[in-house]
Amino acid sequence: MEEVLLVEDIPVEDASPKGAIITIWTLNRPNKLNALNNKIHEEIKKECIRVESDDNVRVVIIRGAPPPPVQESEKQKPSSFAAGADISEFEGKNSDDVRPFFEDNAWEAVWNLSKPTIAMVDGFALGGGTELALSCDIRFASEKSKFGQPEINLGLIPGGGGTQRLCRLLGYGKAMEIILSGNMIGTDEALKIGLVNAVCKSEELAEYTIYFAKEIAKKSPHTIKVAKRVIRASLDLPFTEGVLAERSEFVALFDTEDKEIGVKAFLERKDPLWRGE
Ligand code: COA
Repeated sequence: MEEVLLVEDIPVEDASPKGAIITIWTLNRPNKLNALNNKIHEEIKKECIRVESDDNVRVVIIRGAPPPPVQESEKQKPSSFAAGADISEFEGKNSDDVRPFFEDNAWEAVWNLSKPTIAMVDGFALGGGTELALSCDIRFASEKSKFGQPEINLGLIPGGGGTQRLCRLLGYGKAMEIILSGNMIGTDEALKIGLVNAVCKSEELAEYTIYFAKEIAKKSPHTIKVAKRVIRASLDLPFTEGVLAERSEFVALFDTEDKEIGVKAFLERKDPLWRGE
């Protein structure tokens, strides 16, 4: 049976506590431009449960499988992160058919992970593909990537959180422009408006992303979780409450072993050996 999600663990030798890994998920339906069908959603949700309960997993990277070798008389498939939800699963469906799927989907499962997530986009990230990238904390893309929310062309709107996450990330005006037009955005604009964090050459993307993920993996895993939680709180809380939430989490870190380890290591000019507590 088709393995629609490939999982690879990369050890991070010089991270502490020992055993740290970066997990890479590869969306693996290259013949369908890695379109997100039901099966991929199920696999991603399962993987979210696994990585959440595995203390060794420090960072998750999501990418799309590269296009398959071109067969004779066929045209070359383009490179993709994911070209959206699988449109073939929409035909003939009514609201009762699709509601259960959209109420328990992979976009929210990824969004709800307590660990840092990075979308590594090399090619098309459209519709649910852009939304999956938006569910990650950070987006790195190759120069040939294209983003967009073309659901409007199907008589739909984004259903994986795109309307809300685009507004929060880019602001109301850009979200309107992208969703109402359905137009694709290249990486010059994506970088300018903050849709992606960095752009590099296709052949350098994996190295750059893994290097960055390893840098995060070397921090205290406890402190990283707290940082992510507090930054996320800014999306839901009024400003003053957000500042109070930050203060409360900051102060609580003074009761952790890792704060003492980090401060001592700095003063002694050594590398910190985190306990993760
Ligand atoms: N769902 C299901 N299948 C998809 C898909 C999707 N979102 N996007 C692409 N595919 C399939 C195509 O049907 C085609 O399958 P086939 O070779 O078996 O016929 C294959 O992937 C290659 O796509 P194709 O359209 O032939 O490639 P292209 O280079 O001509 O165009 C895109 C690339 C990305 C512009 C085009 O595929 C596209 O517009 N995709 C849909 C994007 C979209 O609307 N996403 C939002 C979904 S809610």
